[in-house]
Amino acid sequence: MAEILCLCAHPDRAHSRVSARLMDALATTPFPPGKLALRDLYRLYPDYAIDIEAEQQALAQARLVIWLHPIHWYGMPALMKLWLDEVFSYGWAYGPGGHALQGKDLWLLLSTGGAEAAYSPQGHHRHAFQDFLLPYEQTARLCGLRLLPPQVLHGAHRADDETIAQHVREAVQHLLSYPHWCGSQRAEQEELPAGERPVEAKA
Ligand SMILES: Cc1cc2nc3c(=O)[nH]c(=O)nc-3n(C[C@H](O)[C@H](O)[C@H](O)COP(=O)(O)O)c2cc1C
Repeated sequence: MAEILCLCAHPDRAHSRVSARLMDALATTPFPPGKLALRDLYRLYPDYAIDIEAEQQALAQARLVIWLHPIHWYGMPALMKLWLDEVFSYGWAYGPGGHALQGKDLWLLLSTGGAEAAYSPQGHHRHAFQDFLLPYEQTARLCGLRLLPPQVLHGAHRADDETIAQHVREAVQHLLSYPHWCGSQRAEQEELPAGERPVEAKA
């Protein structure tokens, strides 16, 4: 149980250059007791049988939730998506009585194979990278999470060791100084009116 809960999802950690180094750094940095807990989803759930209660308990204690993963097909890896489907449940994360995540911070620690310039209207991916984060933004909003500006390492395949090391150092420094680091960065998010929540609206 910790103030910062980092959910890591990489289906092939042995071949990861970025996520694995972030996970290793977070695991070995001497954070104060109770500051940070890491949950490596592919190690915890190789059979995809997620312990929903354990995940919700870990979330309930946290003030900052991190999703650390490579971008796969413009979104999150499969187990992270299953985790979201099952753990952010109706009546717990959203819907009537679903206030468990209200007011917590959410931070994305991401990497892409595509270079930053490829994420533009003229580029290979045809849209700004931020456009692909729309589902994350709306998920956060629906659950009352405050989405912090993400930290993204683009062009991961071609990134040299120093670039990756700098990315890792920056992330660790941010977390060591949490909550002060993000105090000025939180996006203003009003609570979604009850009737606008999709499931309630259907009922
Ligand atoms: C199945 C799969 C899908 C991917 N989809 C994308 C994508 O949509 N956009 C992108 O920029 N990179 C994509 N990539 C590249 C990964 O984002 C990149 O390899 C990763 O961020 C590097 O981090 P790592 O060293 O931790 O693996 C994909 C890679 C795989 C294996």
